[in-house]
Amino acid sequence: MKLLHIDSSISGAESVSRQLSASIVIRFKDTLPGLGVSYRDLVADPVPHQSPATRFAKLKSLYEAGALDGKIGEVVAAAMRGGAPVDASAQDEVAATNVALDEFLAADIVVIGAPMYNFGIPSQLKAWIDCLAAPGKTFSYTATGVEGLAGSKRVIVASSRGGFYSAPSPMAFMDHQETFLTSFFGFIGVTDITFVRAEGVNQGPEQRQRALESALAEIAVLKAA
Ligand SMILES: Cc1cc2nc3c(=O)[nH]c(=O)nc-3n(C[C@H](O)[C@H](O)[C@H](O)COP(=O)(O)O)c2cc1C
Repeated sequence: MKLLHIDSSISGAESVSRQLSASIVIRFKDTLPGLGVSYRDLVADPVPHQSPATRFAKLKSLYEAGALDGKIGEVVAAAMRGGAPVDASAQDEVAATNVALDEFLAADIVVIGAPMYNFGIPSQLKAWIDCLAAPGKTFSYTATGVEGLAGSKRVIVASSRGGFYSAPSPMAFMDHQETFLTSFFGFIGVTDITFVRAEGVNQGPEQRQRALESALAEIAVLKAA
């Protein structure tokens, strides 16, 4: 069994989400003998943001899979005749995107350190998620609508936020961090998603400690299956 560990906090050793995601990985290592773990720090080792090259590569794969027809198919075909972005940096971007996607596809369990930044997720994490949105790999278009293809994976999110956003907080409507992650992973078919949450960590040292202890207590009893 393989686990992919992702971190995205810019706060280094002070990071709450990094502490929680590392604890989750230790918990899984303890409970799943032989577990293979790979790690990507999206701050130290970022993936490229979307670009004309990565967009072209995605359209091309859709076109080759016969998933584009009508006007859009003509547009893509014309774009390909007009020449793909072939310079070395464009090729590197597409390759790096595919490496991130392959790392995700190879994993059975994905542990994601995901702080709330400005009510959403860090842009580094968003760029990684953009790599995963791959037609034909993580979702497909069918006659009855979109079908997620990543349904066999389990995702555990180590969520940290300075304020309180869980219901019944009046701030709940401003949570575009956990709600976004739930929506995206749901879109690609993941139904087994768990949030381990430390909230209110910027509301004084006592609350920070309480939030951390409560999240670590949840991790201590996290079931491997
Ligand atoms: C750039 C930045 C933006 C932030 N935006 C929010 C926010 O919108 N809402 C909030 O409650 N906390 C916000 N915070 C506080 C973080 O969510 C909190 O410090 C959390 O612990 C960050 O996770 P980390 O410690 O793993 O970096 C922000 C922190 C940073 C550095």
